[in-house]
Amino acid sequence: MEKNIVLIKGDGIGPEIVDEALKVLDKVCEKYGHTFRYTRILMGGESIDEYGVPLTDEALDTAKAADAVLLGSVGGPKWDDLPGHLRPEKGLLAIRKGLGLFANVRPAYLYPELKAACPLRDEIIGDGFDMVVMRELTGGLYFGARETVEQDGQMVAKDTLTYSEEEIRRIAVKGFDIARKRRNKVISVDKANVLDSSRLWRKVVHEVAASYPDVECVDMLVDNCAMQLVKDPKQFDVILTENMFGDILSDEASMVTGSIGMLSSASLNETKFGLYEPSHGSAPDIAGMDLANPIATILSAAMMLRYSFDLDQEADAIENAVKQVLADGYRTGDIMSDGCKQVGCKEMGDLIAERV
Ligand code: NAD
Ligand code: IPM
Ligand code: MN
Repeated sequence: MEKNIVLIKGDGIGPEIVDEALKVLDKVCEKYGHTFRYTRILMGGESIDEYGVPLTDEALDTAKAADAVLLGSVGGPKWDDLPGHLRPEKGLLAIRKGLGLFANVRPAYLYPELKAACPLRDEIIGDGFDMVVMRELTGGLYFGARETVEQDGQMVAKDTLTYSEEEIRRIAVKGFDIARKRRNKVISVDKANVLDSSRLWRKVVHEVAASYPDVECVDMLVDNCAMQLVKDPKQFDVILTENMFGDILSDEASMVTGSIGMLSSASLNETKFGLYEPSHGSAPDIAGMDLANPIATILSAAMMLRYSFDLDQEADAIENAVKQVLADGYRTGDIMSDGCKQVGCKEMGDLIAERV
């Protein structure tokens, strides 16, 4: 199979983790006889430094023309004082919107080998957790009108949260579809006791649920959900939620399953196209030190093979290689526990590639 992949290495640990995912993809190509052609584009801080903007129109067009995009991470202290529309993160929002990637799938799975990295007690962990956050990605607070103005002698800032029925319906359908392939349970998370947008969310989710009588649908308020994730994570199969709540809850779910360094993600539209990226950020505190865990990015590459290219066997091979490396006792610092062997980012990539 031949595929064109756009690569965005980005900032901070981005280049380090993407290089390890490439190592693993090279091994897949060698073993299964595929050809992946890579085109690099710049986004985030690296694009600001080169072109003065976080994403150029040309870069977006290049991404549009590809079969899939693989991304490291963007952002860092160097660019933190720029105005909002020129920040690295704006590049990420622009590519999500520009490619229509409204569905962000973030699987949080506790590998049995990683139980010691889970901060919860043994009796809560039991035989582990396996959930997925289905996060709406191109609406809500991230894309509403915002402004900062002077009013009565002080500055006042405003961000607006808007959802249309259609935006809610299409992500709900994705959530119920994925639940059908899993354990048939959707927990829809909102703040319907306060927000109009959440009351509309709940109404539309219930309408969609009516077409999925085989899938249990439970409403949960977001504050309760944050608490339940730590109290009893086993109850979760699919968490269906809007953009901002999904951002926050997915970081929480990642820690419950060991580390943010393990949380992969796929951002999808209605086609086979997708953007694949770890859920974590550019980790400026450990950038350039060979300390980053590349597994979230490597698992995101596996999601790319599965969702965009229908290469299930190859995706399985990567996921099994990750499982094997953990079973063999290798850990990066973020998932380290007693009796394991600590390795750096590069060595972790080598060890996984070897096992593909
Ligand atoms: P972060 O996810 O970058 O880091 C939070 C903590 O987790 C840090 O201690 C970091 O060292 C650790 N961590 C993250 N990924 C790791 C990995 N793979 N291996 C080991 N440890 C890891 O979040 P932050 O510090 O809040 O944000 C830093 C920058 O990243 C900000 O500029 C933010 O906007 C940006 N960001 C970008 C993305 C993205 O590109 N998708 C996502 C989140 C944050
Ligand atoms: C993520 C990140 C982004 C988000 C930021 C960097 C814009 O935190 O992908 O989770 O909030 O969506
Ligand atoms: Mn986030």
